[in-house]
Amino acid sequence: MYKCAIILAAGEGKRMKSDLSKVLHKVSGKEMVNHVIDTMKKSNLLDINVIVGKCAEAVKAATISRSVTYSFQEKQLGTGHAVLSAKEFLKDKTGTVAIFSGDAPLITMETVEEFLNFHVKQEFKATILTSIVDDSKKYGRIIRDEKGTVLKIVEHKDCNAEELKVKEINAGMYCFDIEVLLDSLSKLSNDNAQEEYYITDVIEIIRAQGLKVGAIDVPFEETLGVNSRIELAQAERVMKNRINTKHMENGVTLIDPENTYIGTEVEIGNDTIIYPGNIIEGRTIIKSNCLLYPNSRISDSVIEEGVTIQSSVILESHIGKETTVGPYAYIRPESEIGKHARIGNFVEIKKSKIGDNTKVSHLTYIGDAEVGSGCNFGCGTVVVNYDGKKKYKTIIGNNAFIGCNTNLVSPVEVKDNTYIAAGSTITKEVPTGSLAIARARQINLEGWVDRKGLKK
Ligand code: UD1
Ligand code: CA
Repeated sequence: MYKCAIILAAGEGKRMKSDLSKVLHKVSGKEMVNHVIDTMKKSNLLDINVIVGKCAEAVKAATISRSVTYSFQEKQLGTGHAVLSAKEFLKDKTGTVAIFSGDAPLITMETVEEFLNFHVKQEFKATILTSIVDDSKKYGRIIRDEKGTVLKIVEHKDCNAEELKVKEINAGMYCFDIEVLLDSLSKLSNDNAQEEYYITDVIEIIRAQGLKVGAIDVPFEETLGVNSRIELAQAERVMKNRINTKHMENGVTLIDPENTYIGTEVEIGNDTIIYPGNIIEGRTIIKSNCLLYPNSRISDSVIEEGVTIQSSVILESHIGKETTVGPYAYIRPESEIGKHARIGNFVEIKKSKIGDNTKVSHLTYIGDAEVGSGCNFGCGTVVVNYDGKKKYKTIIGNNAFIGCNTNLVSPVEVKDNTYIAAGSTITKEVPTGSLAIARARQINLEGWVDRKGLKK
C-alpha cells in the first residue's frame, strides 16, 4: 500500500529562546529534523513532505540534500493547521500518511516500521504513537474508555483534573488514512485554551464517524519531544548512549562512554580505544586499533589503522596508518599525512601533504606544502606561505633534513636528500644532495665585555 510522511517543522519553538528554528538545533551533531528525516528514509518512507514556516529558508537549506518536498505554513496556527498546509501534497493520494514532529529526534527505524505495520494490519483509520510515563508533563493525554478503546487526545492546557492524572501521553506521531485525514482536517476548530488548530482533535472527529482508531505505546526514550534546552540535553544523552552502545557492541573500547561524543555518521573499527573527552564529528572514519587519548576533536576525517592521537584537532584530513598526532597538534582541512609519520606537539598543518615516515615533531607550521617521505623537521620550522596578499606553495622532496628554526619562504623547493642548517631563511631552491646555510656567519669579538667595562 502507498505510504508517505509529513514532518512538522514550521513552529517557532519559543521555549528554546533561540534565533534558530527549534528543529535545526542539533543532537549528536545532527539537526533534529534531519534525524527524523533519516529515520523515515531508513524505514522506507521515501515520499517526505516537510512543513516549513518559521525560519523556512534555513530549514530548507539544512534539509535540501535529503531530497524531500516542502509545504509552507505561513502563520503558525497549530499542528492541525500545519498538516492542512500539506493539502496539495496529500490531495489525490490514497493510502497511509505518517506524521512526525521535527522536534522528536529519538524515534527509531524499528519503531516506525512496527508502527506502520500495526496501523495497516489493524485497519485503523488513525493510529497514535504513545508512551506511558510517570510524569506526563505538558504532553497531550490519551483518553480511553473502560474497555481501553481510544476516544480522544486532550492537550495538557485543556485537561480537567481527571485527565491530568493520565499517564499515557501523545508522542505527536500518527498514521492516518489519507482520505479520512483530509476530510477530518476540514472539520477542525480552534476552540481551545491556545486558540490553535490541533492535529490531536482529529482523533475525536474520526471516532465520531464510528471509524477505528488505535494506539501503540513505546518507551518514552523514543518519544521525548524537545521544547527547551533542558530537553535538548536529555535527547543528547539518550542519543549519545545509543551511539556509544553501538560502537562498544562493534568492539570499540570507550573508557568513559558518558564523556565521549560521537556523531551519528561516524564509523569506528574494532579494537580502537577511546579515552574521555573526545569529540568525533561528521563523516569521520576511524579504522581499527587506533588509540585516542583524551580530548581531541576529529571532524570529517579518515584515520587509518593503528594511529595514535592525543589532545589535537583534526579537520577534513586523512591520517595514514600508524602515524602519531599530538599532543596539541592542529591539522587543518585538506591535509594528508602519510604512514608512520609523526606530527608532534604544537604543530599546525594546513592544506598540506606530508609523506610516509616524515617527522614534524615540535612547534612547527606547515601550510600549502607538499612534503615527501623520510623528512625530519627541526623544532620551530615555519613555512612562510603568505605574503599578505597571496598564498604560495612549498615543495620538499624525500629525505630532507630541515634544521631547527628554519623559515621556508614560499614559493620554494627543497629537493631530495638535502640538509638545511638550523636558523636558515630559505628563499631559493635547495638542489638535490646539498646543504643549505642561509644565515649570517657568526663573529666573535674577543675581549669585548672587558673593553666595554661590562664585566660583573
Ligand atoms: C504536541 C501535541 C501534544 C504531544 C506533543 C508531543 C498538539 C496540539 N499537541 O504538543 O499532544 O504530546 O506534541 O511532543 O499537536 N508546528 C508546526 N506548525 C504549528 C505548530 C507546530 O509546524 O503551527 C510543529 C513544530 O515545529 C513542532 C511540532 O509541530 O515540530 C509540534 O509542535 P509543538 O508546539 O512543539 O507541540 P507540543 O506543544 O509539544
Ligand atoms: Ca513539542
